[in-house]
Amino acid sequence: MQRVYFDNAATALDADVLPAMMPYFTTHYGNASSIHSFGRESKMAIEKSRKTVATLLNVKPGELFFTSCGSESSNTAIQCAVRDLGCTHIITSAIEHHATLHTVQFLASQQKCKVSYVKLTHNGFVDMVDFERILTSSSEKCLVTLMYANNEIGNLSDIEYIGALCKKYGALFHTDAVQTVGHFPIDLQKINAHFLSASAHKFHGPKGSGLLYINQEIGIKPLLMGGGQERNMRAGTENVANIVGFGVAFEYACTHMEEHRIYIQSLKTEMHKLLSEKIDGTAFHGDVSDNSLYTVLNASFPVNDKTEMLSINLDIAGICVSGGSACSSGVEGGSHVIKAVYPHESRVPIRFSFSKHNTFEEIELAVQKIATLL
Ligand SMILES: Cc1ncc(COP(=O)(O)O)c(C=O)c1O
Repeated sequence: MQRVYFDNAATALDADVLPAMMPYFTTHYGNASSIHSFGRESKMAIEKSRKTVATLLNVKPGELFFTSCGSESSNTAIQCAVRDLGCTHIITSAIEHHATLHTVQFLASQQKCKVSYVKLTHNGFVDMVDFERILTSSSEKCLVTLMYANNEIGNLSDIEYIGALCKKYGALFHTDAVQTVGHFPIDLQKINAHFLSASAHKFHGPKGSGLLYINQEIGIKPLLMGGGQERNMRAGTENVANIVGFGVAFEYACTHMEEHRIYIQSLKTEMHKLLSEKIDGTAFHGDVSDNSLYTVLNASFPVNDKTEMLSINLDIAGICVSGGSACSSGVEGGSHVIKAVYPHESRVPIRFSFSKHNTFEEIELAVQKIATLL
C-alpha cells in the first residue's frame, strides 16, 4: 500500500545532511573540548556550523548556543529570564507549545512569577490591543514569550510588531520560532527578540538538535550545570554530528527557501481547495491564507462514527497525519490550541503538514481516502 506522509512537522533528513554528519560518528569522534587534533577537528566543525547559522540569521556567532532540542531552548530562555534577569511577570498565550506553557505554569506554581495570557482573536492571533494593555498595566519586569508560528493551526504572528511593543515597554522577549526557522527568512536585526528557539528536525535536519539565540546584551547563567561547553552556557559534551547537521540543513533550507515555499504553498492551496469542494462541511482552523505557515493546514470534518478516530482510520488507509499536535499525540484531552481558540468545537481536528517531498497525487489520494471514510 502506498503511504503518504503529511506529518512534516517532523521532516526527513535532506540528502546532504547525513553524509556531512557521518564523519563525526565514525572518523572524527574527538571530544570538542579536548585540545588534541581530534578534539580540534570537532571544535572546528561546531564553530563552522555556528558561523553559517549566525550569518543566515544576521547575528554574531557568539549569540548562538546549540542545544538538544527546541524544548530545551525555550526552557532555558524562560527559566533563566526568571531566575537570572529578575522577570516576575510572564506574558504569553494559551496556544504556545507545551515546552513554553508547561515551563511557565511550573514557574508560576513555584510562585516565581505571575502569568498573563493575552486574549486571542476569533481565529487564533494575539489580540494586540490586549497585549499592549497588559504591557502598559504591568509594574513588574516582564518576559514576553509568544511563538512566531503556531504548530497546530499555522498562524504566523507579527513578530516585528510584538518585538517593537516589548521594546517600547521595556519587556524581554522570547519567541519560539521552531516552526518558522528554515521556512521563512529571519533577520534578527529586524526583530527585537532577546531569545529565539529553533529546532533542526523542522527543516530536514536531525532530531535532537536545537538552537537558542541569546542577544549579546543579555547575561544568563546556564540551565544545565557541569562542564564549560558552549562558552559556559550549556554543559554536556557537544553532539558534534547533530550540530553539523543543523548547519548543513539550515543552509540548504535558506538557499532554496523561495522555491520550496512556492511549491509547498501550492500543495496546501490544492488540499484546501479539494477538501472544500469534495467534503461538505469541512471547516478550517486558524488563518488559512496569508498569515499562515505554508506547511500546515488544520481541518475538521462533519461528525460520524469514523471522525472520532479519523487520524487512526487514515493511518490504516496509509495517510499519516496528526490529530492536533504530533508533539502531544497520545496525550489525553484533545488539543489545547483548538480548545483555546475554538471552545465550542466538538469535532476532531486533523493537522496536515506538508514538505517539498509531497506531491499533488498524494493530495488527491488523501482527499479521496478521507471522502471514502466519511
Ligand atoms: C512550535 C514548537 N515549539 C517547540 C517544539 C519542540 O521542539 P523539539 O521537538 O525540538 O523539542 C515544537 C515541536 O514540534 C514546536 O512545533
